[in-house]
Amino acid sequence: MTTLPLSDYNIYIGTDIWETFNELIASEEPAQIAVLVDENTKEFCLPIFKEKTNFDYKVIEILSGELHKTLDTCQQIWSEMMDFKMNRNGLLINLGGGVIGDMGGFCASTFKRGMRFVQMPTTLLSQVDASIGGKLGIDFMDVKNSIGVFNNPQAVFVNTVLLDTLPARELRSGYAEMIKHSLIANATDWKELLGISDLAHIKWDKLLVSSLKVKQQIVEEDPFEHGIRKALNFGHTIGHAIESHFLHTDKRLLHGEAIAAGMICESYLSYLKSGLSKADLEEITTYLLKIYGKCSISDSVYPELLATMRQDKKNISTEINVTLLNAIGVCQVNQSGTPEEIIKCLDYYNSL
Ligand SMILES: NC(=O)c1ccc[n+]([C@@H]2O[C@H](COP(=O)([O-])OP(=O)(O)OC[C@H]3O[C@@H](n4cnc5c(N)ncnc54)[C@H](O)[C@@H]3O)[C@@H](O)[C@H]2O)c1
Ligand SMILES: [Zn+2]
Repeated sequence: MTTLPLSDYNIYIGTDIWETFNELIASEEPAQIAVLVDENTKEFCLPIFKEKTNFDYKVIEILSGELHKTLDTCQQIWSEMMDFKMNRNGLLINLGGGVIGDMGGFCASTFKRGMRFVQMPTTLLSQVDASIGGKLGIDFMDVKNSIGVFNNPQAVFVNTVLLDTLPARELRSGYAEMIKHSLIANATDWKELLGISDLAHIKWDKLLVSSLKVKQQIVEEDPFEHGIRKALNFGHTIGHAIESHFLHTDKRLLHGEAIAAGMICESYLSYLKSGLSKADLEEITTYLLKIYGKCSISDSVYPELLATMRQDKKNISTEINVTLLNAIGVCQVNQSGTPEEIIKCLDYYNSL
């Protein structure tokens, strides 16, 4: 097991985390314990959890997926906590992907003015990204993560055994955030990832530790995203717009699939504006296309994509705020792209 310490909690990574997990729960002395699952983590992860833990708990089950990351589901969670007579001395364990972690953390943080919670992420995306950094929340009026709080868990337990049942497409989606971490801050990791083509047979533990360190260092330095934390948005300005567009079509993309396209576009912008070499651009492009393939983005949707990007709260004036690469492993936040430059990036992607 590897322990990554943050200033007020630890991330434990390994397949042998259970003893530490049981000890931590005991040391918290919670008055009541609930475990939040969805139908998939109930089927695939809860049996393992049950076998390895030594305390009693109530299971709260919600429906899976982003569509259910809503106030209605929060009401269900809060109601079940009330029925279970949980109080501020209770503890919630979030056993699931990013939806469970974000929403469970939010429900715990707001229940009776704040109850403790522990993250046990079960998707690659939540293990490497969503479960750390303190951002919690839900979607509201169709706007992603528009209601929420910053708050930290008591601990995060990353157990890669749980990834064994994750669908391949979900695994690949989470992998995009690992690629992102390497591109913004760790050229050595990037070289290692370049050697990976078959995600099904990877030993994730070591790669996860290295990737988590990137996020750990960034969120510790800038927990509330005033500056350097924006580095984590690399690929996300254009990627989010692509994700939102496909959300309304029958070709929905998973988050990481859209971010992969976004990273190609924003690498091209980095080549145009911030010194990324042509060789590095080509290396990034070739690898991302090999893993994710290409989605087709017709130029008729460019205005819609630009409109989505313009809504971003990080923008100043008509330019679009982006994080760019100076080189692989080195990035620069608070850069901007004009609509014309963004269109060049989309044209580059389409020309591949
Ligand atoms: N808080 C943050 O900093 C942050 C960062 C990135 C993403 N997010 C959020 O994370 C969410 C996406 O997370 P996600 O990709 O984990 O999605 P998810 O939670 O919807 O999980 C994806 C799917 O995998 C299933 N699943 C989960 N674990 C499984 C397992 N071990 N075996 C089989 N199936 C399993 C789930 O039931 C679900 O159907 C989004 O809502 C996003 O906003 C938050
Ligand atoms: Zn992301």
